[in-house]
Amino acid sequence: MSHVAASVVQHTGTFWAFDLDRPIMTGLPARLPAIFLRAGPERAEELAAAMQVASPAVVVERFARGCQCYVAYLEGGKTLASYGWISFNHEEIGELELTIRLRPGRAYIWDCATLPPYRGRRLYPALLVSIARVLQEQGLRRLWIGADASNYASRRGIEVAGFQAVADVTCIAGPEQQKRYLLRPWPGVPEERLQDLSQSLSPKVELVAPQDESQSA
Ligand SMILES: CC(C)(COP(=O)(O)OP(=O)(O)OC[C@H]1O[C@@H](n2cnc3c(N)ncnc32)[C@H](O)[C@@H]1OP(=O)(O)O)[C@@H](O)C(=O)NCCC(=O)NCCS
Repeated sequence: MSHVAASVVQHTGTFWAFDLDRPIMTGLPARLPAIFLRAGPERAEELAAAMQVASPAVVVERFARGCQCYVAYLEGGKTLASYGWISFNHEEIGELELTIRLRPGRAYIWDCATLPPYRGRRLYPALLVSIARVLQEQGLRRLWIGADASNYASRRGIEVAGFQAVADVTCIAGPEQQKRYLLRPWPGVPEERLQDLSQSLSPKVELVAPQDESQSA
Protein backbone atom coordinates (compact mmCIF):
# COMPACT_ATOMS: atom_id res chain seq x y z
CA MET A 1 0.00 0.00 0.00
CA SER A 2 1.38 3.39 -0.94
CA HIS A 3 1.44 5.99 1.79
CA VAL A 4 1.27 9.69 0.88
CA ALA A 5 1.82 12.03 3.77
CA ALA A 6 -0.37 15.14 3.49
CA SER A 7 0.98 18.67 3.41
CA VAL A 8 -0.21 20.81 6.28
CA VAL A 9 -1.17 24.47 6.00
CA GLN A 10 0.76 26.08 8.83
CA HIS A 11 -0.10 29.74 8.51
CA THR A 12 -1.89 32.20 6.25
CA GLY A 13 -1.60 35.94 6.25
CA THR A 14 -2.44 38.81 3.92
CA PHE A 15 -0.30 41.72 2.72
CA TRP A 16 -1.76 45.14 1.97
CA ALA A 17 -0.17 48.13 0.23
CA PHE A 18 -0.73 51.85 0.64
CA ASP A 19 0.56 53.87 -2.31
CA LEU A 20 1.70 57.29 -1.19
CA ASP A 21 1.51 58.96 -4.60
CA ARG A 22 -2.20 59.55 -4.08
CA PRO A 23 -4.10 61.77 -1.63
CA ILE A 24 -4.55 60.42 1.89
CA MET A 25 -7.94 60.75 3.58
CA THR A 26 -8.55 64.05 5.29
CA GLY A 27 -9.42 63.73 8.96
CA LEU A 28 -8.70 60.65 11.03
CA PRO A 29 -11.04 57.74 11.80
CA ALA A 30 -10.35 57.83 15.60
CA ARG A 31 -13.49 57.87 17.75
CA LEU A 32 -11.86 59.88 20.55
CA PRO A 33 -9.38 62.76 20.67
CA ALA A 34 -5.81 61.57 20.34
CA ILE A 35 -2.36 62.97 19.58
CA PHE A 36 -0.27 61.08 17.03
CA LEU A 37 3.48 61.51 16.99
CA ARG A 38 6.80 59.88 16.26
CA ALA A 39 8.47 58.44 19.35
CA GLY A 40 12.23 58.28 19.79
CA PRO A 41 14.63 56.41 22.09
CA GLU A 42 13.84 58.87 24.90
CA ARG A 43 10.52 57.01 25.24
CA ALA A 44 12.15 53.55 25.36
CA GLU A 45 10.99 52.74 28.89
CA GLU A 46 7.42 53.84 28.26
CA LEU A 47 7.31 51.90 24.98
CA ALA A 48 8.79 48.80 26.58
CA ALA A 49 6.10 48.90 29.27
CA ALA A 50 3.33 49.32 26.67
CA MET A 51 4.80 46.51 24.55
CA GLN A 52 5.25 44.30 27.61
CA VAL A 53 8.79 43.38 26.68
CA ALA A 54 11.33 42.38 29.32
CA SER A 55 13.66 45.33 28.84
CA PRO A 56 13.87 48.74 27.10
CA ALA A 57 16.92 47.25 25.34
CA VAL A 58 14.49 45.61 22.90
CA VAL A 59 13.18 49.05 21.96
CA VAL A 60 16.62 50.67 21.88
CA GLU A 61 17.88 47.95 19.52
CA ARG A 62 15.03 48.69 17.07
CA PHE A 63 15.86 52.41 17.00
CA ALA A 64 19.57 51.60 16.62
CA ARG A 65 18.93 49.64 13.44
CA GLY A 66 16.88 52.46 11.90
CA CYS A 67 13.29 51.55 12.75
CA GLN A 68 10.82 54.33 13.48
CA CYS A 69 8.01 54.15 16.04
CA TYR A 70 4.71 56.06 15.99
CA VAL A 71 2.33 56.35 18.91
CA ALA A 72 -1.13 57.60 19.82
CA TYR A 73 -1.58 59.43 23.12
CA LEU A 74 -4.82 60.16 24.91
CA GLU A 75 -5.65 62.69 27.63
CA GLY A 76 -3.52 65.45 26.13
CA GLY A 77 -0.41 63.29 25.92
CA LYS A 78 -0.60 61.49 29.28
CA THR A 79 -1.66 58.01 28.18
CA LEU A 80 0.08 55.95 25.51
CA ALA A 81 -2.76 54.01 23.86
CA SER A 82 -1.40 52.67 20.54
CA TYR A 83 1.97 52.12 18.90
CA GLY A 84 3.34 50.83 15.61
CA TRP A 85 6.84 50.15 14.24
CA ILE A 86 8.23 50.86 10.76
CA SER A 87 11.20 49.29 8.99
CA PHE A 88 12.80 50.65 5.84
CA ASN A 89 15.34 47.97 4.98
CA HIS A 90 14.38 44.45 5.97
CA GLU A 91 12.35 42.85 8.74
CA GLU A 92 11.63 39.36 9.99
CA ILE A 93 8.00 38.27 9.81
CA GLY A 94 8.01 35.96 12.79
CA GLU A 95 4.64 34.29 12.28
CA LEU A 96 5.56 33.23 8.74
CA GLU A 97 9.31 32.76 9.30
CA LEU A 98 9.88 34.99 6.28
CA THR A 99 11.99 38.10 5.76
CA ILE A 100 10.65 41.11 3.87
CA ARG A 101 13.43 42.97 2.01
CA LEU A 102 12.13 46.36 1.04
CA ARG A 103 12.87 47.99 -2.27
CA PRO A 104 13.84 51.70 -2.26
CA GLY A 105 11.02 54.03 -1.26
CA ARG A 106 9.13 51.31 0.61
CA ALA A 107 8.44 50.86 4.31
CA TYR A 108 6.97 47.97 6.28
CA ILE A 109 4.65 48.56 9.24
CA TRP A 110 4.79 45.87 11.93
CA ASP A 111 4.29 45.21 15.65
CA CYS A 112 1.31 47.50 16.10
CA ALA A 113 -1.07 47.37 19.03
CA THR A 114 -3.71 49.31 20.88
CA LEU A 115 -3.65 48.70 24.63
CA PRO A 116 -6.72 46.66 25.65
CA PRO A 117 -8.67 49.41 27.49
CA TYR A 118 -8.61 51.61 24.37
CA ARG A 119 -9.49 49.09 21.65
CA GLY A 120 -12.51 49.54 19.42
CA ARG A 121 -12.10 53.36 19.10
CA ARG A 122 -10.36 53.21 15.71
CA LEU A 123 -7.06 54.39 17.15
CA TYR A 124 -5.20 51.78 15.09
CA PRO A 125 -6.51 52.89 11.66
CA ALA A 126 -5.99 56.52 12.72
CA LEU A 127 -2.39 55.71 13.67
CA LEU A 128 -1.89 54.02 10.28
CA VAL A 129 -3.28 57.07 8.44
CA SER A 130 -1.08 59.43 10.45
CA ILE A 131 1.96 57.21 9.69
CA ALA A 132 1.07 57.33 5.99
CA ARG A 133 0.96 61.14 6.09
CA VAL A 134 4.34 61.45 7.78
CA LEU A 135 6.02 58.92 5.49
CA GLN A 136 4.51 60.60 2.44
CA GLU A 137 6.16 63.82 3.60
CA GLN A 138 9.43 61.91 4.04
CA GLY A 139 9.23 60.99 0.34
CA LEU A 140 8.29 57.32 0.70
CA ARG A 141 6.34 55.76 -2.17
CA ARG A 142 4.63 52.70 -0.75
CA LEU A 143 3.81 51.15 2.63
CA TRP A 144 3.40 47.45 3.29
CA ILE A 145 1.55 45.82 6.17
CA GLY A 146 0.49 42.26 6.93
CA ALA A 147 -2.02 40.54 9.18
CA ASP A 148 -2.89 36.96 10.02
CA ALA A 149 -5.99 35.47 8.45
CA SER A 150 -7.44 35.06 11.94
CA ASN A 151 -6.79 38.62 13.16
CA TYR A 152 -10.11 40.25 12.33
CA ALA A 153 -9.48 43.45 14.32
CA SER A 154 -6.17 44.11 12.59
CA ARG A 155 -7.56 43.32 9.13
CA ARG A 156 -10.52 45.58 9.72
CA GLY A 157 -8.33 48.45 10.93
CA ILE A 158 -6.01 48.12 7.93
CA GLU A 159 -8.96 48.31 5.53
CA VAL A 160 -10.52 51.27 7.37
CA ALA A 161 -7.19 53.08 7.00
CA GLY A 162 -7.41 52.66 3.22
CA PHE A 163 -4.80 49.98 2.52
CA GLN A 164 -5.43 47.70 -0.46
CA ALA A 165 -5.11 43.93 -0.20
CA VAL A 166 -2.46 42.56 -2.56
CA ALA A 167 -1.94 38.87 -1.79
CA ASP A 168 -2.31 36.08 0.73
CA VAL A 169 0.77 34.14 1.78
CA THR A 170 0.29 30.58 2.94
CA CYS A 171 3.02 28.54 4.57
CA ILE A 172 2.69 24.82 3.87
CA ALA A 173 4.82 22.19 5.60
CA GLY A 174 5.50 19.11 3.48
CA PRO A 175 5.99 15.54 4.66
CA GLU A 176 9.68 16.12 5.45
CA GLN A 177 8.74 19.38 7.23
CA GLN A 178 10.20 21.39 4.34
CA LYS A 179 8.23 24.62 3.93
CA ARG A 180 6.65 26.15 0.84
CA TYR A 181 5.28 29.66 0.67
CA LEU A 182 2.46 30.32 -1.78
CA LEU A 183 1.72 33.91 -2.75
CA ARG A 184 -1.85 34.17 -4.03
CA PRO A 185 -2.87 37.56 -5.46
CA TRP A 186 -6.20 39.16 -4.72
CA PRO A 187 -8.40 39.78 -7.77
CA GLY A 188 -7.61 42.88 -9.80
CA VAL A 189 -4.27 43.64 -8.16
CA PRO A 190 -1.97 45.56 -10.52
CA GLU A 191 0.94 43.43 -11.72
CA GLU A 192 3.52 46.01 -10.62
CA ARG A 193 2.27 45.91 -7.00
CA LEU A 194 2.23 42.12 -7.00
CA GLN A 195 5.76 41.90 -8.41
CA ASP A 196 6.95 44.43 -5.82
CA LEU A 197 5.63 42.20 -3.02
CA SER A 198 6.88 39.01 -4.65
CA GLN A 199 10.40 40.45 -5.04
CA SER A 200 10.37 41.75 -1.47
CA LEU A 201 9.59 38.26 -0.17
CA SER A 202 11.79 36.34 -2.62
CA PRO A 203 13.35 33.91 -3.05
CA LYS A 204 11.13 31.83 -0.82
CA VAL A 205 7.64 32.58 -2.16
CA GLU A 206 5.98 31.03 -5.23
CA LEU A 207 3.35 33.04 -7.10
CA VAL A 208 0.18 31.01 -7.68
CA ALA A 209 -3.15 31.67 -9.45
CA PRO A 210 -5.39 34.46 -8.08
CA GLN A 211 -8.00 33.49 -5.54
CA ASP A 212 -11.58 33.11 -6.65
CA GLU A 213 -13.61 36.37 -6.58
CA SER A 214 -16.13 34.70 -4.27
CA GLN A 215 -13.45 34.23 -1.55
CA SER A 216 -12.33 37.81 -1.47
CA ALA A 217 -14.94 39.36 0.84
C1 LIG B 1 -5.54 44.90 16.07
C2 LIG B 1 -5.61 46.11 17.01
C3 LIG B 1 -4.27 46.88 16.89
C4 LIG B 1 -6.77 47.00 16.59
O1 LIG B 1 -6.70 48.18 17.38
P1 LIG B 1 -7.97 49.13 17.64
O2 LIG B 1 -7.42 50.47 17.96
O3 LIG B 1 -8.90 48.50 18.59
O4 LIG B 1 -8.66 49.14 16.18
P2 LIG B 1 -10.18 49.49 15.83
O5 LIG B 1 -10.78 50.32 16.89
O6 LIG B 1 -10.18 50.02 14.44
O7 LIG B 1 -10.92 48.09 15.84
C5 LIG B 1 -10.88 47.22 14.73
C6 LIG B 1 -12.08 46.30 14.84
O8 LIG B 1 -11.96 45.53 16.03
C7 LIG B 1 -13.29 45.31 16.56
N1 LIG B 1 -13.47 45.82 17.92
C8 LIG B 1 -14.39 46.67 18.34
N2 LIG B 1 -14.30 46.89 19.64
C9 LIG B 1 -13.30 46.16 20.08
C10 LIG B 1 -12.75 45.99 21.34
N3 LIG B 1 -13.20 46.58 22.43
N4 LIG B 1 -11.70 45.15 21.44
C11 LIG B 1 -11.22 44.55 20.36
N5 LIG B 1 -11.72 44.70 19.12
C12 LIG B 1 -12.77 45.50 18.97
C13 LIG B 1 -14.25 46.02 15.67
O9 LIG B 1 -14.78 45.09 14.76
C14 LIG B 1 -13.39 47.03 14.96
O10 LIG B 1 -13.87 47.40 13.70
P3 LIG B 1 -15.03 48.54 13.56
O11 LIG B 1 -14.49 49.79 14.14
O12 LIG B 1 -15.25 48.68 12.11
O13 LIG B 1 -16.22 48.05 14.30
C15 LIG B 1 -5.83 45.67 18.48
O14 LIG B 1 -6.96 44.82 18.53
C16 LIG B 1 -4.62 44.97 19.08
O15 LIG B 1 -3.75 45.62 19.67
N6 LIG B 1 -4.56 43.63 18.96
C17 LIG B 1 -3.42 42.86 19.48
C18 LIG B 1 -2.14 43.08 18.67
C19 LIG B 1 -2.38 42.90 17.17
O16 LIG B 1 -3.06 41.99 16.74
N7 LIG B 1 -1.76 43.80 16.37
C20 LIG B 1 -1.96 43.85 14.93
C21 LIG B 1 -0.95 43.15 14.15
S1 LIG B 1 0.61 43.99 14.09
